[in-house]
Amino acid sequence: MKVLVLPTAERAAARTAGLVADTVATTDQPVLGLATGSTMEQVYADLVTLHRTDSLSFATTTTFNLDEYVGLSPDHPQSYRQTMEALLFSHVDLHPQACHLPRGNAPNPYAEAERYEAAIAAKGGIDLQLLGIGHNGHIGFNEPTSSLGARTRIKTLTRSTREANARFFDDPKDVPRYAITMGIATILDARHAVLLATGSSKAEAVARMIEGPLGADCPATALQMHPRTTVVVDREAAAKLCMIDYYLEIHPDGEEPDLG
Ligand code: GLP
Repeated sequence: MKVLVLPTAERAAARTAGLVADTVATTDQPVLGLATGSTMEQVYADLVTLHRTDSLSFATTTTFNLDEYVGLSPDHPQSYRQTMEALLFSHVDLHPQACHLPRGNAPNPYAEAERYEAAIAAKGGIDLQLLGIGHNGHIGFNEPTSSLGARTRIKTLTRSTREANARFFDDPKDVPRYAITMGIATILDARHAVLLATGSSKAEAVARMIEGPLGADCPATALQMHPRTTVVVDREAAAKLCMIDYYLEIHPDGEEPDLG
């Protein structure tokens, strides 16, 4: 894993947006995997700025989001589809038909999960998968004890995840119990995985993910098996890393080493 430690959350988000922008600018017909969660909000704001000021174009980009709540229609205000519309889709030149999320209100959610997995494969797979991390080490909605070989499917959310996401709903009772999520194996198929974590509340999960033993009790540890994962963290989220001095030495200020 490549670990980039930035001094602030703002710098970490900007570094992450830069990695996404590089992929979009240098890939023929790029395919992005996108994530929701408040950590991602600044990344999308930075990408919108790059679109407006640096002419970063998404005209040939296809996107697949990690997950969606089961039972919410695409126009439900708390659906991840609406979140993405508000943060990114409506502000850049992405083609509306190129922006994919699982359909939370599909009549058969199991069939929808299979359709979604096949749609990613039909596009040739994902060039860069953006990820956040839950406090319990989940990525997408792959909660602890998820199979590390799982593909897109239905997951039941843990109580702690429902409580963490309740802030987005008027009534905590409205938080859906189920989600359609890419599986760990789907995520590991991406050619580059980029995970952003900021703030002290993520420090424990970040340390487990990077330096802990591989295991289903912290699904993000599966990224240790990925040949190209970049983890971008701020100093607060990096606070529990035993080898922080090493990461800072290799990548001062989150930069690549100059090997001549
Ligand atoms: C949700 C999403 C995850 C995200 C996590 C953390 O559970 N499904 O993709 O990583 O929230 O979100 P936040 O960035 O708000 O802490």
